[in-house]
Amino acid sequence: MNILLIGSGGRENALAWKMSQSDKLSKLFIAPGNAGTANFGTNVPLNPNDHTAVCNFIVDNNIDMVVVGPEEPLVKGVHDAILADERTAKIPVIGPQAEGAKLEGSKEYAKAFMMRHNIPTARYLSVTKDNIAEGVAFLRTLKAPYVLKADGLAAGKGVLILNDLAETEKELQSMLNGKFGDAGNTVVIEEYLSGIELSVFVLTDGKSYLILPEAKDYKRIGEGDTGLNTGGMGAVSPVPFAGEEFMKKVEERIVVPTVDGLRNDNIPYKGFIFIGLMNCDGDPYVIEYNVRMGDPETEVVMPRIESDLVELFEAVANNNLGSKKIAVSKQTCCTVMMVAGGYPEAYEKGNEITGLDKVNGSIAFHAGTKLVDGKVLTNGGRVLAVSSLGSNKDEALSKSYANLGLVKFKDCYFRRDIGKDLDKYL
Ligand code: AMP
Ligand code: GLY
Repeated sequence: MNILLIGSGGRENALAWKMSQSDKLSKLFIAPGNAGTANFGTNVPLNPNDHTAVCNFIVDNNIDMVVVGPEEPLVKGVHDAILADERTAKIPVIGPQAEGAKLEGSKEYAKAFMMRHNIPTARYLSVTKDNIAEGVAFLRTLKAPYVLKADGLAAGKGVLILNDLAETEKELQSMLNGKFGDAGNTVVIEEYLSGIELSVFVLTDGKSYLILPEAKDYKRIGEGDTGLNTGGMGAVSPVPFAGEEFMKKVEERIVVPTVDGLRNDNIPYKGFIFIGLMNCDGDPYVIEYNVRMGDPETEVVMPRIESDLVELFEAVANNNLGSKKIAVSKQTCCTVMMVAGGYPEAYEKGNEITGLDKVNGSIAFHAGTKLVDGKVLTNGGRVLAVSSLGSNKDEALSKSYANLGLVKFKDCYFRRDIGKDLDKYL
């Protein structure tokens, strides 16, 4: 099978690595990919939002399946465009059409979906310029901290959590006045959920589903979960506070009603659902849906999956995922992200990375890299995700940290405390 994988981050490197282990894979193309994905296929400079170019590429290269890594092309309708072109309409796409992608593309849409299907989530009110007074009145019924979310995609920056009511009211105004552009034309005000977060991943053909290994990621730049939010600084799977009983609640209260809800609402959905959850005293609540895998969670989820991923994708395409089981390693996988100094604010690109050939016992997934004249250069804030499997968390982490020491680039930074907060649950 020839597969086109869309994306260029650590998630796509992990997906490419995993798919390349399948006997079913003939050729893999990654658009646009990075220096790491080039080890598993051919990088192609294709813009996923240029739908004509995507369809032409599928035809010209005999592509049998398209796997979409990031949310943006899905929200912008790449799957719909492939279906609409009669030359490519029969080519399966892993990743929902634009309607299903609204679960991530619009917080209001996701909240309304959860309400309709009785899926546990924080209480909320959706506010536009037309009902600010109602929004302020709702805020005043809540206790601090206050949660404001821009409805649309805002590059991960659209959520504010504030302690002061007056400041929250001011921020609500400024979001509605364009602080996050059009993404903030509608703002979702939410009750604050207190607990510990984790990410649960589901693969669905729209009817049946498989639950993939869960993971916890580390979003803040600083140790002890301090400082600015990032795309993710590391991840651990499995999550020790997500035991069998908790995961059963997740399945019964969230996964089943989500998949059934999509079907009952006539929303076609083939692909991943990433459910951001809060564990509140043993009960799961949905914080958000994403319509893709997480990054860096994919870099710990893929190494734990023992099943053939391409075979599972094929089952999604053929509507027979219900006949498949997923085999998952009992080992722990940890990843630590190496980032460029300054990230998530201004940082340099184009610095040479050395020592990748010395990595042993870990996998260095490339997140933001590019290949220039045979050299691997930094090409993003998050540069490499160094993942390791071990019989326990500490063993996995010590492998990653040992290998991190061998890889070098200018002003490299990483957190030294990934997974430390989990000790109390072990
Ligand atoms: P999101 O962009 O929806 O992932 O939100 C960013 C982060 O804000 C989440 O990962 C949570 O840590 C936090 N968050 C979002 N909604 C809530 C909530 N209702 N209660 C507590 N924390 C939240
Ligand atoms: N790691 C969180 C995300 O991918 O959105």
